[in-house]
Amino acid sequence: MGKEKSKNILITGVSTGIGYGVAKELIGRGYTIFGSVRKMEDGNRLQQELGSNFKPLQFDVTDQEAIDRSAKELTFLLQGQGLGAAINNAGVSMSGPLEHLPMEDFIYNFDVNVFGLLRVTKAFLPLLGVQPNHPSSPGRILNISSVAGKMAAPFLGAYSGSKHAVEALSHTMRREFQRYGIEVVIIAPGPVQTPIWDKGSMERFEKTLYIKSLINFFTWFTKEGKRGITLESFSKQLADILEKDKPALRYALVKDKFKNWTVPRLLGDRAMDDFFKKML
Ligand SMILES: NC(=O)c1ccc[n+]([C@@H]2O[C@H](COP(=O)([O-])OP(=O)(O)OC[C@H]3O[C@@H](n4cnc5c(N)ncnc54)[C@H](OP(=O)(O)O)[C@@H]3O)[C@@H](O)[C@H]2O)c1
Repeated sequence: MGKEKSKNILITGVSTGIGYGVAKELIGRGYTIFGSVRKMEDGNRLQQELGSNFKPLQFDVTDQEAIDRSAKELTFLLQGQGLGAAINNAGVSMSGPLEHLPMEDFIYNFDVNVFGLLRVTKAFLPLLGVQPNHPSSPGRILNISSVAGKMAAPFLGAYSGSKHAVEALSHTMRREFQRYGIEVVIIAPGPVQTPIWDKGSMERFEKTLYIKSLINFFTWFTKEGKRGITLESFSKQLADILEKDKPALRYALVKDKFKNWTVPRLLGDRAMDDFFKKML
């Protein structure tokens, strides 16, 4: 008989949005969630709301020491048990035209979305099934990418670049970790209704030649975003994927998928250039 699946799940970035929605959904399904927050007041608020099956871990994904401390803390808390999954969700989008976006912003986008994801994966890997005599069946890793992991819009160069990197990294992880039976699944959402759509401002690019194009693009983009999949529906879909015995390698979870994913992918890059040219 095989070992049992662990019901302990790590999720990064649970203060709001997808991390929060998925934590809530999984707690409803009987899981224990170890959710990362940057501010302990978020951890306390979530513990109040989600109950004793929610346990906060405090770290910023750019802070190696804090991640290592949390991995030690979790190892202690689990008392020899393993993790059923790690969901690498924490992410940011630093938007703006490449010509004017400061290099620090571009680097920060990669630090959070790519290097942060790798730091967390490496630190928690022993609990997913790399440790000798692992007590439960191997855990799995769900990396939250985006449609931007395959397509690149203007003014989202840092974000799209980081999500393309997440896709490549996920393929390498899957091929390397198969020796442990650890599955790596790419989750690529289209727009989901979360606070991410209210973050960021174009004010600092006001004096550049791009400002009219930026306004045109972000007016369309945020409108599409706020019409995206509801958080509840997205969280259910993600929890269903987590519970599948044999998950696919990649899931594009996109509303009106044919129009918003299949067609743009079929059209090709030159046609997409024309689409953006008209919009900008
Ligand atoms: N919403 C969408 O339409 C959509 C579509 C495709 C992909 N995604 C991806 O889904 C993930 C979650 O996005 P969301 O829409 O739920 O956005 P969100 O509501 O803004 O949540 C982002 C989460 O990441 C955390 N975070 C940000 N920087 C961090 C850092 N340096 N260290 C640790 N945690 C950090 C935030 O914590 P704080 O509160 O402390 O900042 C927050 O908990 C991201 O990877 C995003 O790229 C979202």
